[in-house]
Amino acid sequence: MDKLIIQGGFPLHGEINISGAKNAALPILAATLLTDETVTVSNVPHLHDITTTMGLLGRMGSELTIDERMNIEVNNHNLRDYFAPYELVKTMRASILVLGPLLAHYGRADVSLPGGCAIGSRPVNLHLDGLKSMGAEIHVEGGYIRATANRLRGAKLTMDLVTVTGTENLMMAATLADGMTIIENAAREPEVVDLARCLIQMGAKIEGAGTDTIFIHGVDKLHGTHYTILPDRIESGTYLVAAAMTGGSIKLKNTRPQLLDAVIAKLREAGAEISHDDTNIVLEMNNRRPEAVNVHTSPFPGFPTDMQAQFTAMNCIAKGSGTITENVFENRFMHVQELQRMGARVRLEGNTAISRGVKQLNSAPVMATDLRASASLVLAGLVAKGSTVVDRIYHIDRGYETIEEKLTLLGAKIKRVPSALLN
Ligand code: EPU
Repeated sequence: MDKLIIQGGFPLHGEINISGAKNAALPILAATLLTDETVTVSNVPHLHDITTTMGLLGRMGSELTIDERMNIEVNNHNLRDYFAPYELVKTMRASILVLGPLLAHYGRADVSLPGGCAIGSRPVNLHLDGLKSMGAEIHVEGGYIRATANRLRGAKLTMDLVTVTGTENLMMAATLADGMTIIENAAREPEVVDLARCLIQMGAKIEGAGTDTIFIHGVDKLHGTHYTILPDRIESGTYLVAAAMTGGSIKLKNTRPQLLDAVIAKLREAGAEISHDDTNIVLEMNNRRPEAVNVHTSPFPGFPTDMQAQFTAMNCIAKGSGTITENVFENRFMHVQELQRMGARVRLEGNTAISRGVKQLNSAPVMATDLRASASLVLAGLVAKGSTVVDRIYHIDRGYETIEEKLTLLGAKIKRVPSALLN
């Protein structure tokens, strides 16, 4: 298992390109199951979760080709299996995204029920309830969701709470249903909108994506297309926080500043000077230490839970006291104990991390527990005294494309070492 070793104390300066969004690429790859024609997806990030999704599609019979620029071509006309096994779903919960497309196009799906995970229990009851309302027969047996349907039928689905992959699964299923589906209290995340745009390019009739009510008029079939994934707003936000914490100045290219309003507002409150045009963001901190901020996570357009850990790390070295309240997941603070081991004065009270910033963190061996928690530990390492070893970085490789290369380009002292060399 690889580790990252980070020598702290070097402000970030320079320019990097932002990759395609993981959380848009995953549902869009699943959406290819809705057609027998070839779908080509561009700007796919090179990440473990993408490899896992390709493995999942491949074992069901998808024909996949990929070029060196990560353009992926998927053709499912010979699909022979409608099965997502536990071994894959347990490593990547987003595998649940094949459920809606398989059921809508092939009339059956056997998908392992995802278990709990490092950030909470994360049930999928709303995905299943929605599909049942559309006429699917669903039984959970032996840890598997066994779903069948002749043709799904349109339905009015009022979601009890906002769920991103739940909205995506149901929207995909509804594209081939008989009649109109209305999803109320739908997720408004940009990745839901990107999926809807791709589905529309494939011939789906969808209105309202990006609002809390989505209308889907079912069609008989979808066709192939070539779709380019939108830039990753969470990767963008993570590098902006890294620059702010180190007192540096960076430019992000090929990003989408309009998707980062809540994050940019909090970084400005922390003292960062930020300017942008449609595709680039420049952040300047001019060697200043950030001011602590108060943050409450909520579904889009609120402050994203996927940026919570990074802001917790920033508050740990900021001037003053700050609070970070997590409202989306029940247990997304595994990074707090690791930050404490680096000398952070941060404590948890219920779902709030309360911190009083210290001028500098100390290096320590720390362990990544989930994707965004790992990112926060790398950020902490960038400002810690000495050299921080971050273990279990396979979590980072799930969601950040070549993180050590991008940070090195920005002047960080960071290297990847296979663990065997450290023992
Ligand atoms: N929930 C239920 N029942 C359901 C579905 C969700 O109770 O049937 C609850 C969850 O337990 C959670 C809340 O609803 O408390 C919101 O979860 P949501 O379903 O929106 O999360 P998700 O779709 O599983 C996606 C992203 C996450 C991101 C969340 C929130 C993908 C592949 N994953 O997860 O991304 O944190 O939305 O924005 O899109 C990450 O990239 O690090 C990551 C975890």
